[in-house]
Amino acid sequence: MDPNRLIWVAEKAMERAHAPYSNYKVGAALICSDGTIFKGCNIENASYGLTNCAERTALFSAVAAGKTEFAAIAISASGEPDPYPCGACRQVLAEFCGSGFPIYIKTLEGHESTTLGELLPHAFGSAGDAASNTPRPSR
Ligand code: THU
Repeated sequence: MDPNRLIWVAEKAMERAHAPYSNYKVGAALICSDGTIFKGCNIENASYGLTNCAERTALFSAVAAGKTEFAAIAISASGEPDPYPCGACRQVLAEFCGSGFPIYIKTLEGHESTTLGELLPHAFGSAGDAASNTPRPSR
């Protein structure tokens, strides 16, 4: 899919953000391999640490709906800084997506196109990658 279209969906997802503490609204649009798109927004909490980022909201919604294969994600935010996914979201994406997984980030100028492998090299236990270092239980 055209990155600009996926970013447009991320912008729509941002409208659902619950961000009364940071006032920084984030939207994510995750497209599955079958073309289905899941939206996510950041959902903050009075206890701050329980906040869920837009990327994880989208991914968890998709997995809960039975999807585990993903083609790309787009992320958009209501202000600065540009919404590069946080470390936790990168690791959670790596559970299901390989290093070549495309990530489109809306910026002031347009958008930046990067990959999960660029943002999280040597991801721990990266599923689907040949060089997976996932620990296996020994019996
Ligand atoms: N946030 C996201 O939802 N995604 C990102 O990529 C960066 C940060 C949220 C978490 C919190 O609600 C707010 O942005 C400020 O950190």
